Amino acid sequence: MTASSPRKDFHEENRLSWNEAIKAHNSHKGDQAKFFRDGGSTLFPEEKELLGDITGLSLVHLQCNAGQDTLSLARLGAFVTGVDISDEAITFAHKLSEESGIPATFHRADVFDWLEETAKLGEQFDIVFSSYGAVCWISDLNLWAKGIADVLKPGGRFVLVDFHPVAMMFDVDWSHKFSYFSQGKPLTWEDGISDYVASSGTALTPWGYETGVENFRNPYRSHEFQWGIGDIISALLSAGLTLEVLKEYPYANGCKIFERMREAPGRRMFPPEDVPNLPLMYAIVARQRHFNTIY
Ligand SMILES: C[S@@+](CC[C@H](N)C(=O)[O-])C[C@H]1O[C@@H](n2cnc3c(N)ncnc32)[C@H](O)[C@@H]1O
Repeated sequence: MTASSPRKDFHEENRLSWNEAIKAHNSHKGDQAKFFRDGGSTLFPEEKELLGDITGLSLVHLQCNAGQDTLSLARLGAFVTGVDISDEAITFAHKLSEESGIPATFHRADVFDWLEETAKLGEQFDIVFSSYGAVCWISDLNLWAKGIADVLKPGGRFVLVDFHPVAMMFDVDWSHKFSYFSQGKPLTWEDGISDYVASSGTALTPWGYETGVENFRNPYRSHEFQWGIGDIISALLSAGLTLEVLKEYPYANGCKIFERMREAPGRRMFPPEDVPNLPLMYAIVARQRHFNTIY
């Protein structure tokens, strides 16, 4: 791995870009408080299965976006905390929690700052959870993994479901455009974070898509960091966690990240017929040791 400290300068630009994108995303999602009051959940079966019964557990959702999944996790009985760098995301999440009547704590913070401060305070959680478009925003994987390990209780679990780094090698037209082995090298998108909710339609808004913002153009660029599966697992193992689950999936949930994706039941997006199968999502469960070893 080449990156050795977080690129806070790039994170700040990402914050601005996410602020704009989230306004556009939420413009398509209608009355989300009503959706939750009516018993709705935005979770997919994959993360529910990996998490198992979370009743009564403390859970922090890193990069929680506008809080929809965080509130869905609270619905399953966990005491939830959501953390995200975007002001727009956290303002919306607070409002959604209030209007839906689902209690949750939200913090606007860079994930690196939050992990460091929380560890210093000695606060720990049963579960650290992150999902769907998370690791590509992490500029220092070793520090991230160590931060996660530090805020896990003994025996606690890190649960991650994300888009597969193999999928990140392809452009939207399925041409092989980007390197797999990038060691976290920043990849800058001058047009910033897109309105992927608009391009996914009801796949990301199964309760009803609204036209909302049209022809969205993000005025702020964004920076991603490409890490391979080996990088991610090595970082978690180096942080002292034990790998319990590694799964790969031939589909992506909800998000139509490429052209001509085929939608299967359950909002699973597969490549078109003429593209051989490839991993589009992966999941990891890694556990903190049950007690501190004294050397
Ligand atoms: C694709 S979204 C994740 C979606 C999420 N799974 C959900 O529940 O909707 C990525 C999120 O990462 C956040 N993010 C990016 N860089 C971050 C950082 N350095 N610290 C905290 N959050 C960050 C963005 O603001 C954005 O909300």
